[in-house]
Amino acid sequence: MAAGKSYPHDSAALHVSGRALYCDDIPLPARTLHAAFGVSPIAHGLLHRLDLAPVLAMPGVIATAGPADIPGENNYGSAVHDDPIFAADRLEYAGQPLYAVAAETMAQARRAARAATLDLETLPAILDIRAALAAQHFVLPTERMQRGTPQQALAQAPRRLQGSVVLGGQDHFYLEGQIAIAIPQDDGGMLVHSSTQHPSEVQGIVAQALGLTASQVTVICRRMGGGFGGKETQPALVAAAAAVLAHKTGRPVKLRLDRDDDMVITGKRHDFLSDYDVGFDDTGRILALEVMLASRCGYSADLSGPINDRAVFHLDNAYFLEHVAVTSHRCKTHTVSNTAFRGFGGPQGMVVIEHLIDGIARDLGMDPLDVRRRNFYGVTDRNVTHYGQTVEDNVIHGLVDQLEHSSQYRARRCAVQAWNQSHAVIKRGIALTPVKFGISFTSTMFNQAGALLQIYTDGSVLLNHGGTEMGQGLQVKVAQIVATELGLPLTAIRVTATDTSKVPNTSATAASSGADLNGMAARAAAQTLRERLTAHACVRHGVSAESVHFQAGLVRMGAQSCSFAELVLDAYKARISLSAAGFYRTPKIHWDKSSWTGRPFYYFAYGAAVAEVAIDTLTGESTLLQVDILHDVGTSLNPAIDLGQIEGGFLQGVGWLTSEELCWNEQGSLRSHSPSTYKIPTARDWPARSVVALLEHSPNPEATVYRSKAVGEPPLMLGIAVLHALRDACAACGPAGAAIALEAPATPESLLRTITALARRHAV
Ligand code: MTE
Ligand code: MOS
Repeated sequence: MAAGKSYPHDSAALHVSGRALYCDDIPLPARTLHAAFGVSPIAHGLLHRLDLAPVLAMPGVIATAGPADIPGENNYGSAVHDDPIFAADRLEYAGQPLYAVAAETMAQARRAARAATLDLETLPAILDIRAALAAQHFVLPTERMQRGTPQQALAQAPRRLQGSVVLGGQDHFYLEGQIAIAIPQDDGGMLVHSSTQHPSEVQGIVAQALGLTASQVTVICRRMGGGFGGKETQPALVAAAAAVLAHKTGRPVKLRLDRDDDMVITGKRHDFLSDYDVGFDDTGRILALEVMLASRCGYSADLSGPINDRAVFHLDNAYFLEHVAVTSHRCKTHTVSNTAFRGFGGPQGMVVIEHLIDGIARDLGMDPLDVRRRNFYGVTDRNVTHYGQTVEDNVIHGLVDQLEHSSQYRARRCAVQAWNQSHAVIKRGIALTPVKFGISFTSTMFNQAGALLQIYTDGSVLLNHGGTEMGQGLQVKVAQIVATELGLPLTAIRVTATDTSKVPNTSATAASSGADLNGMAARAAAQTLRERLTAHACVRHGVSAESVHFQAGLVRMGAQSCSFAELVLDAYKARISLSAAGFYRTPKIHWDKSSWTGRPFYYFAYGAAVAEVAIDTLTGESTLLQVDILHDVGTSLNPAIDLGQIEGGFLQGVGWLTSEELCWNEQGSLRSHSPSTYKIPTARDWPARSVVALLEHSPNPEATVYRSKAVGEPPLMLGIAVLHALRDACAACGPAGAAIALEAPATPESLLRTITALARRHAV
């Protein structure tokens, strides 16, 4: 059986040898033009006049496109139509596209894109969350959900803590930037190669922009060099601009953003500001919680609605909250419109509860792990989430017990204490944090997928499904599923590029559900074909269906057998259809947005990490010394791929919370727009000691594909352990029980500020 084995990523050899073709590597058709965006230099203002004549006069320039050149709708926003492809008169962030230019070479296009004459009027800009809150400036209405009577329970609680959590955003820093190639077709249609997690959305938006039908636009994506959520909605802007220029010139147009443009023009993870008021008892049990979440959405809605919803859903992380109220503000700022990023708001919600639990532990003088345990969801009681979903698959108790033991958490905590008593400059810290993450799109309708499976007369199999490959190993997993269903070796299955003309109306490959959804759709298609072949074998060989087995490239029929290819050719001659579509929709889920109740998630994925760090209290520099991870993927479809996702996700979370810092200047221009000013983790940041393991014997109790669980996003939140280990190390610099106001990212500056404040408290 191919499913469950550690096959390498199908493109691993291509990736490491540089032979994998990304959009930028696709050989271009004759007469292809190269495009670049001209962007707003100011964060907020009015564009009174845009003179593109100087652009057209630049060498190599063939055409420009602005709002008036869009035959259809000037919009690339999917949910709310508030994202102009080219801003017409109101400018809402520094870097917002105003026009695009097509030239013979990319260098010419980029030079020309800076040549326009703009007549601007600058308006006051709202740049951060505090300013937006003060001005009540929101992209979407504020949401509030409540369970129980938190105000009453807070008033009665024996202990209470109030505080704030400051949490930065994150750039996706996919190694391949945003790119599209639009190729006009002879019948008026448009073919688009796009680096996108959501080909169907790119198709729809290009069609809308050009005034075409969806059937006239085809979008293809072979692979992305990383997406991380940044290629869910953002590729539509790049594809639409390329398509408008292609439509206008009748020539193919390639638009590739370079790193700086990509970072300035496209959305990022939402930064958050939160205030909490928590009531608890002397044992650390939370009795009541009131939380205000506010996020920087940027100038438009994009996916901010569901992202902030997911922050509210994950405010509990793994903890039971009986009396709780959450207010969620979706702040409008004159900055780039923030978007999906691995975890989709969930991590931002979780950081808040982990922060306040750590505060409770320090207040009570308890080990934070004991306070965490005290508040875990029960298995049979205290197991209903604040949004009314019963947690039916709780494995957090056993998982954390196992990790506590395997990591020798208690002994290492003592060792850390001993170290800190004998070392004045280098302080160490340790923390164990859990993850519980809901799997499914919270918008129920997106939880569907399709696949198209074709068997050729030589017995070879071609698979197409609606999911996209961004490095996460979706294609190899889905191929393993088909190979398993047809009893074929994995090498017999070829997966093609994602193509809207093969599988229509697909959802984004997102919410970690790529393998869950597309794997099931492909499995359904494979089962259909297997049933047809079985029926044919029965007729041909006079056997019963129960005696037909597909195994190791053979079809066994009682005592007889033939090769899969032989049966296929025979079925073809008998005029049996050898292609099938498969479809899947997730069962059981529902969600009522107005009452904030339902079962938005089919199941939960769990994990936990222990991190140990050292900080230099003179410089604020920190080092991750060791990480121990235990993560639940149900019955793994591919342990090697899953371990890769866990390691990569964890380190990406660490980067978010420690080194990746987005800086805007007072005029609202992003100053951190290249690797020289924005520090993502590299292989060198991986700790010297690490143990990463999958939770064993833990099949998904829900009927997912072979009882597996999604793995794409949850591990990012294991990185929270590092933030808490850093808090723990900071705590060693101050008096016992002092509150630790460490802001994330915990850069050296942020750590120094915290340490200095704590040391001052020590002195008094
Ligand atoms: N892994 C790699 N290598 N590259 C990526 O871009 N994206 C993450 C995660 N893992 C990503 C990744 C995100 S944000 C999601 S939602 C999932 O993969 C999407 O793929 P899946 O649903 O197939 O897990
Ligand atoms: Mo992932 S943020 O759901 O693309």
